[in-house]
Amino acid sequence: MHIGRLQLFYFKNHEEQHLHFCNGINCITGPNGSGKTNILDAVYYLANTKSFFNGIDQQLILHGQEFFSIHGFFENENTTEILVNFGKGKKTLKKNGKVYSRLIDHIGIIQTVFITPYDISLVLEGSEERRRFMDFTICQTDRQYLEQLSLYKKLLDQRNAFLKQAEGRPIDPVLLETYDDRMAETGQRIFEKRRDFIAEFTSYFQDFYKFLSGETEQPGLVDVSELHEKPLKDLLYLGRDRDRVMQRTGSGIHKDDLEFLLSDYPLKKYGSQGQIKSFVIALKLAQYKYFLEKTGQKPILLLDDIFEKIDGIRAGKLMELVAQDYFGQIIITDTHEARVQEHLEGLTVGKKYFTLEKPVNTNAAPAQNSSEVPD
Ligand SMILES: Nc1ncnc2c1ncn2[C@@H]1O[C@H](COP(=O)(O)OP(=O)(O)OP(=O)(O)O)[C@@H](O)[C@H]1O
Ligand SMILES: [Mg+2]
Repeated sequence: MHIGRLQLFYFKNHEEQHLHFCNGINCITGPNGSGKTNILDAVYYLANTKSFFNGIDQQLILHGQEFFSIHGFFENENTTEILVNFGKGKKTLKKNGKVYSRLIDHIGIIQTVFITPYDISLVLEGSEERRRFMDFTICQTDRQYLEQLSLYKKLLDQRNAFLKQAEGRPIDPVLLETYDDRMAETGQRIFEKRRDFIAEFTSYFQDFYKFLSGETEQPGLVDVSELHEKPLKDLLYLGRDRDRVMQRTGSGIHKDDLEFLLSDYPLKKYGSQGQIKSFVIALKLAQYKYFLEKTGQKPILLLDDIFEKIDGIRAGKLMELVAQDYFGQIIITDTHEARVQEHLEGLTVGKKYFTLEKPVNTNAAPAQNSSEVPD
């Protein structure tokens, strides 16, 4: 699946924007703040029903306006039209003219892999970022997992509300057990799916890391979970007193982590900057392969500021990789048109260039023009 046309109205700094992408490499260049990343985010939004960067839709409306709209036409054998409108606190998402009653039903229809400078937070931030990465990847191709995860979150909220309402006083053990039973059953399934996922994903990831870095160190992903020791049912039972005092649930898959290692040492502490960069790009490329293996469809690859972020050798290797038939549509952003052209020189895939200009004031739309280089 690739995106053909994209239209934006009042989305972030774009007042009105019409773009017609090719099914090869699309390069968006322009100065800082001209809205390059925002265009990638709009494509991400159409696939994932939300912004990659900002979960508050109200803040995505162009300053001074009252709504935003993102309209995209995706192509494989057929055209799939996706339209998002947000205004007055209400979001509607339509596929081929039909409104979704649950946004969750749209997940998995269009896959995107977004490689951004913010990926570094996967390494530097807490376990929540890594759980989100894992869950996002599995959810794209496993509807059952998506439903289980959403049920688990609901059950966890209910159990926590129950603990809070008791305010440290003795609690009804029978009622607590009914919460524990349901949470344990769902949590156990999620744990098992994550374990299977990591086993499959790790080999894809290691291959990409080695290709990008040219290093011999063995990178590793370790599934960290208390559930390796005991079933969740037992953990919840044993943690009851602690949970009553803390007024929240201290055991479960919401506490799990995905540890990053390089030759058995924690990447965050011992990895060089270059190694960390290769590591996160390899994670995203493995995500690409995982989607492709599961669905048979090539995801849309969004490469934000890629040449800024990595050195020439790694950038060259990445371009060598993505120009292969294995990859489908790619949208790249960069501040320097000449640098992108240099990197893409010699690649035989179709290319199209877009140039954004910085708006004079925040309410004005950036001008845009494009030139196509034939295949
Ligand atoms: N709701 C909004 N209304 C108006 N402008 C917004 C809104 N949200 C974000 N912006 C503006 O969008 C601009 C950033 O756009 P974006 O991050 O896409 O730029 P960029 O071209 O990728 O820049 P860089 O080269 O620095 O990465 C900023 O100037 C920001 O203030
Ligand atoms: Mg940017």
